[in-house]
Amino acid sequence: MLLIIGSINVKLERVKLLDKIRLGINIDHVATVRNARGGKHPDPVIIAKQAEYCSVDNITAHLREDRRHVKDTDIKNLLNELKIPLNFEMASTDEMVNFAVENLPYACCIVPEKRNELTTEGGLNLIENKTIFKNILKLKKAGILCSLFLDPDINQIKIASELGVDAIEIHTGKYCDAIDNNEIQAELEKIKVSAKYAKSVGLDVHAGHGLNYHNVVEIAKIIEITELNIGHFIIGEAIFSGIEIAIKKMRKIINDARVNSF
Ligand code: PXP
Repeated sequence: MLLIIGSINVKLERVKLLDKIRLGINIDHVATVRNARGGKHPDPVIIAKQAEYCSVDNITAHLREDRRHVKDTDIKNLLNELKIPLNFEMASTDEMVNFAVENLPYACCIVPEKRNELTTEGGLNLIENKTIFKNILKLKKAGILCSLFLDPDINQIKIASELGVDAIEIHTGKYCDAIDNNEIQAELEKIKVSAKYAKSVGLDVHAGHGLNYHNVVEIAKIIEITELNIGHFIIGEAIFSGIEIAIKKMRKIINDARVNSF
């Protein structure tokens, strides 16, 4: 009898853990393909609606200063059409803060932005960034949840907690790009330690960048992580399988990894 109750408790615990890992889909690169021809097809809003239909937890979109993928109208259309939250990725600039405060996404993730980079290459440097605090205050005053995109670095996370943000998103790029097994393990360890520390100081812990069906497994096992944001790989896979199969496959891999994590 005790054994049966014990096993029910373990299952309930697992269900709770599964509840806590959210999957966000970044639709930027649907806009990249659309912009290659300057027309309206494929529309990132339609893909976002299809992702919503597949029960993803949020849609992420990054309005870059140079508007290389998502445009202002895409963000406005996403906000009009989606029932699930929009996680608005943005640089810490007056232009982006004003845009966010006017349009009120559910959450903002502040990221570093360099004009010549192909993608967001690393996390924010909070030691050098002197203006971020006033921007965080403006976003929070508008009722927007605020997160910061950071490398897995305790010093940066400590500052983030002092800045009063709701969450951090750990940049998983170095872990995903690592080839040598020792390097993979070292990067993974940094992410684990950082996630634990961030949770211990009261931050919600998200992660993303470069995740695919393979490397997501070890990340999804980190129980402090409550949200994964995945873009390029899923959109690429959707070319082969369609977005629904790509999302469902990712969701299953994440859920299985979570359940097998203990
Ligand atoms: N999270 C953040 C903060 C990002 O900047 C990006 C890339 O735009 C992602 C997640 C998704 O990364 P990827 O497209 O490599 O999955």
